[in-house]
Amino acid sequence: MDRKWRQNLHIEAPEGWLNDPNGLCYFDGFYHVYFQYSPGTPKGEATRCWGHYVSTDLLSWKYKGIVLYPDIPEDRNGVFSGSAVAFNDHIEFFYTGNVEEEGPYDYVLEGRGANVITVTSSDGDKMSAKKVLLKNSDYPDFCSCHVRDPKVWIENGIYKMVLGARTVDDKGSVLLYEGASPDSFRYAGSLTIPDMGYMWECPDMFTLEGKTFLALCPQGTKRGEFSFQNIFHSGYFNLDGEKLSGFEEFDYGFDFYAPQTFIAPDGRRLLIGWMGIGDDAYTNPTIGLGWQHCLTLPRELTVSPEGKLLQNPIRELESLKRSSRKIEGEAWESLPFEVSAAGFADRATVTISGASVSWDKESGILSLRLNEEGYGRKVRNLKLSSLENVLIIADRSSLEIYINNGLYVMSTRFYPEYRQVRVATEGASAEVARLRLNDTLIAIGEALIDFIPDKKGCEFYEVGSFSPATGGAPANVCGAFSKLGGKARMITQLGNDPFGDVITRTLNDAGVDTSCIRYTSAANTALAFVSHTVEGKSTYSFYRNPSADMLFEASDVTSEMLDDCYALHFCSVSLGDFPMKDAHRAAITIARRQGAIVSFDPNLRFMLWDDKEELKHVIQEFIPDCDILKISDEELEFITGTSVIEEALPSLFTGNVKLVILTKGKDGADAYTASVKVASAGRAVNVVDTTGAGDGFIGSFLWKLKSSGIGREEVSSCPVSILKECLDFANRFSAISVQRKGAIPSYPELKEM
Ligand code: FRU
Repeated sequence: MDRKWRQNLHIEAPEGWLNDPNGLCYFDGFYHVYFQYSPGTPKGEATRCWGHYVSTDLLSWKYKGIVLYPDIPEDRNGVFSGSAVAFNDHIEFFYTGNVEEEGPYDYVLEGRGANVITVTSSDGDKMSAKKVLLKNSDYPDFCSCHVRDPKVWIENGIYKMVLGARTVDDKGSVLLYEGASPDSFRYAGSLTIPDMGYMWECPDMFTLEGKTFLALCPQGTKRGEFSFQNIFHSGYFNLDGEKLSGFEEFDYGFDFYAPQTFIAPDGRRLLIGWMGIGDDAYTNPTIGLGWQHCLTLPRELTVSPEGKLLQNPIRELESLKRSSRKIEGEAWESLPFEVSAAGFADRATVTISGASVSWDKESGILSLRLNEEGYGRKVRNLKLSSLENVLIIADRSSLEIYINNGLYVMSTRFYPEYRQVRVATEGASAEVARLRLNDTLIAIGEALIDFIPDKKGCEFYEVGSFSPATGGAPANVCGAFSKLGGKARMITQLGNDPFGDVITRTLNDAGVDTSCIRYTSAANTALAFVSHTVEGKSTYSFYRNPSADMLFEASDVTSEMLDDCYALHFCSVSLGDFPMKDAHRAAITIARRQGAIVSFDPNLRFMLWDDKEELKHVIQEFIPDCDILKISDEELEFITGTSVIEEALPSLFTGNVKLVILTKGKDGADAYTASVKVASAGRAVNVVDTTGAGDGFIGSFLWKLKSSGIGREEVSSCPVSILKECLDFANRFSAISVQRKGAIPSYPELKEM
């Protein structure tokens, strides 16, 4: 998959189509975001499911897979939008089961079913059986068959629910339900107001700072001079008893719809919307790349002195800010970044690539204009009495423009060709700050199929059959990082063959991002047949003459592949005299430029080298390029000429090397920086299979290092206590791994640790 235009800070579907955010909640230490998902169809033709993302910090999101499919008659045409209520030990979900009958129906008054369905989950992923709570016959008579998008919350111990509806005479309406439990929901009235369209979707009701708001998405509102500029809209009323007043749009840009709010553990009310709209005239060029749409960044809601909602980017974003600088006229900056502007002259403009925000005090109009980078998006105008400040969050293909402390927001997709864009200001003072999200472990090198022998303690020719298992050290390292809950991405090339398919599937199942795997017909996926003799010696027979991974070239490496890189990890198997070696160099150069850690585990495989001196030479060549070097006691002498680590260290601390980790099998591991040594004792365990144990060690070490907040700049001065924790963690991780068969399947998840 081409990663061009992939966002860094925003939730996107792994591929295919995404629309509304659903089921937003905080549960069991994680923020959970579900979303309307049509996998495989970037234009959204496939029936909607719910995809699932989790995060501990609202910044770094990890995809967990599809959790709800249309699989009962009552939701057979789509698991539509809905919400979640989180308890201590489980989550309750409520969604619309969409049904479209076959026949000559109009699907407004006849032929369409909209069922309120509930499921529960104790982990956010595995769902209970579905239970239908309400069917169309349960809704009031004035409703058409369009009734959907349950938003449920608990107030004073009572379950409350709002549903969006279209009445039989084509008016938007919100239905209220209440009950002591979801089973006893009963209709408790409806809310509506004249001239607000024919349908209200995605309602939300909440009280903030003593004021009650009813949010909803009206369809069919009349376009005004400065209002309702899109095809469908989204906004909120103030709600006083049953009286709705003062509708305000949430967003005045091109791309915003179907927001939902929820409460963070610290009490903040956060809003996430879909940064897209159905059926609009403009397009998104990512369709051609296999996916479409993203969600907005989470916004913090507060109330202005006038009783309006203020939306501002979550404060967590502050932690991503790097190298803030004033823009003098113009600057070139690499997306994603934040621009804050104030001190506006009577006419002022802030330009980011092909998008400009311009202010004209005389007319009081703030305009957002896009050139061809808008793919059909041209201009949106906003009328203001004054312009105080503008805060723009620019990601790879979107802008969110917060105006006057968040009283107005304009969101839009835009598609600059390159990540490096021109930022310019006129008549305003502005500052730009890089936003860096270094959260992904990226490994480059081989992913292959290990063929595991059916019996051990025999010669290779005595093995009867071999079973396939996904392996390759870099792939295993990704698997370890990912199983612990981290984000990992594999860069390699596989053959267009069934074994390549097996590897992709296994990595996907382990949660590894496979979007940067290339496929070729010029060679097959690498294979390795293994046997274990009585003396415990392993014999490998590699099928790599050449294999697809070896043919991956430097020119195949794009900077997008290294997006969000926390650490780039590589080994020596792919450093032979073939194109993949230069691909490593290219990836290391980009990772360095992005401030990522470079991690190297030589992981010697002598049988792959005709000339061992060449192997030694290439390892010595690559060591100075890494920040973290992991070697095993068995490799030390070959690489350095001495088996005494203290004697070897001076030759290992060359170039960028800041940390050397020595693994000693059952005797534990040691870590050395230039100034300190930390040791972690081994543990006696019943060894079943050591396959991938070393990869699990470094993968889990890097995961723990990242979780401890240690980035490249902190590695050399990393506190001893943190180093010790990371080593102990990795030791425990690999001790669990060796007690089970295989590499990735043997790795524990975080809860087991
Ligand atoms: C809003 C919406 C919802 C519906 C969902 C289906 O964008 O139309 O009303 O539940 O999308 O994907």
